[in-house]
Amino acid sequence: MTILVTGAAGFIGGNFVLDWLAAHDETVVNLDKLTYAGNLDTLSSLADNPRHIFVRGDIGDRELVGRLLATYQPRAIVNFAAESHVDRSIHGPMDFIQTNVVGTCNLLESTREYWNGLAEAPKAAFRFLHVSTDEVYGSLTPADEPFRETNRYEPNSPYSASKAASDHMVRAWHHTYGLPVLTTNCSNNYGPYHFPEKLIPLVILNAVKGKALPIYGDGMQVRDWLYVKDHCSAIRRVLEAGRLGETYNVGGWNEKPNIEVVKTICALLDEMRPRDDGKSYTDQITYVTDRPGHDRRYAIDATKIEKELGWKPAETFETGIRKTVSWYLTHMAWVENVVSGGYRAWVEKQYGSEVV
Ligand code: NAD
Ligand code: TYD
Repeated sequence: MTILVTGAAGFIGGNFVLDWLAAHDETVVNLDKLTYAGNLDTLSSLADNPRHIFVRGDIGDRELVGRLLATYQPRAIVNFAAESHVDRSIHGPMDFIQTNVVGTCNLLESTREYWNGLAEAPKAAFRFLHVSTDEVYGSLTPADEPFRETNRYEPNSPYSASKAASDHMVRAWHHTYGLPVLTTNCSNNYGPYHFPEKLIPLVILNAVKGKALPIYGDGMQVRDWLYVKDHCSAIRRVLEAGRLGETYNVGGWNEKPNIEVVKTICALLDEMRPRDDGKSYTDQITYVTDRPGHDRRYAIDATKIEKELGWKPAETFETGIRKTVSWYLTHMAWVENVVSGGYRAWVEKQYGSEVV
C-alpha cells in the first residue's frame, strides 16, 4: 500500500514521513514544491530507502498530480502543503491564496477524479486528510473557552483566512461529491526540523549566536504548544479511525504566553550551553514592534479526539521543549544549511534594524 503526502519536505510533513516509515511498511510518495520552507536535508536519512519516493512539484499541477495518483494508486492523501508563516502572509498574501486556496482546490479535483475511477473496495477505504490550523477560529480573550470544533470561523490574518478557505473547500467536496475527507485543526507545533523563522527555533538559534531575542509587543500573547511528534501521532490516529467529514482539534493542553516560552528556552540554554560570560540568555530578550492584527490567544479543546479516538499528547511542554532545545544544539549543521541567503534576506525585511 502507498500513501501520498504533500509538503513533506517541510517541518511537520517531514516529521510525519520519518515517523510513518519507521512504523509502517507502506511506501510514501512525497510531493513537495520545495519552496524556501522545503528542505530535503530533513529527509536525508531516507536517501537509500526505496519506500520514500520524492517528487518535486506543485499540489496545484493537475497533470502531475493526476499522473502520480494513476501511477502509485495511493490509499490515502495527507495534505500538509501550504504557505505557513503568518508574518510572510502579511508581507505577501497572494502566494498564500495561490497554494492554500487554489492549490488545495486543484488537489481536491485531482483526487476526486482519481477516487471516482477506483473500484468499490479501494474507493470505500480511501481517505483525504487535510491538515489545518486553530488560527481559523480567530483570537480568544483570556476568559474565553478554548476552541471547539463547533466554534465559528473568524480568521484574522491572510494566512489563517487562506487556511479557513481551504477547510471550507474540503468540507464542500465531501458534502457535494462524497469525497471521503477528514480535517485536523491543530495548535502551534514545535520540535525537530522547525524552520528558524518561527518563534521557538528562532529564539534558540539567535540565543546561541549572541543575537537579540525578538518579542513582539508585550509578549503576553498566548499560544497552545504541541510537540510535533504528538501531532504526527494524532494524524495517524485520525487517518485510521476518524469519522468521514469530521474535523478534529489537536492540541497539547499547553497554553503559554510568548514571554514565558522564551524565558523557558533561556533557562534551558543557561543549563545546557551556558554563555561564556556567565550571564543568562534572558539578557538578549528585546521587545520589538508588534505584528499587525496579532491574535491575542489561541487555545484548543482537544476533548473530541480524546473521547472518540483515544488520542492524547505524550509530551508536556516541559518535556517537549527540553527535547527540542537539545535537538537544536546537536543539529547545528541542519540549521546552518537552512539559514541560506534567502533566510537572511527575510530576517532583514521582517526585523530591520530592530534586531541586530
Ligand atoms: P512548512 O512551511 O514548514 O512546510 C510546508 C511545505 O509545503 C514545504 O516543504 C513547502 O515546500 C511545501 N509547499 C508549499 N507550497 C507548495 C505547493 N504549492 N505544492 C507542494 N508543496 C508545497 O509548514 P509546516 O509548519 O510543516 O505546516 C504543515 C501544515 O500544517 C500546513 O498546512 C500548516 O498550515 C499546518 N499547520 C502548521 C502549524 C505549525 O505550528 N507549524 C500549526 C497548525 C497547522
Ligand atoms: P509563530 O511561531 O510565527 O507562530 P503563529 O504566529 O502561527 O502563532 O509565532 C508564535 C508567537 O510568537 C506569535 O504570538 C508571534 C510571536 N513571535 C514573537 O514574539 N517574535 C518573533 O520573532 C516571532 C517569529 C514570533
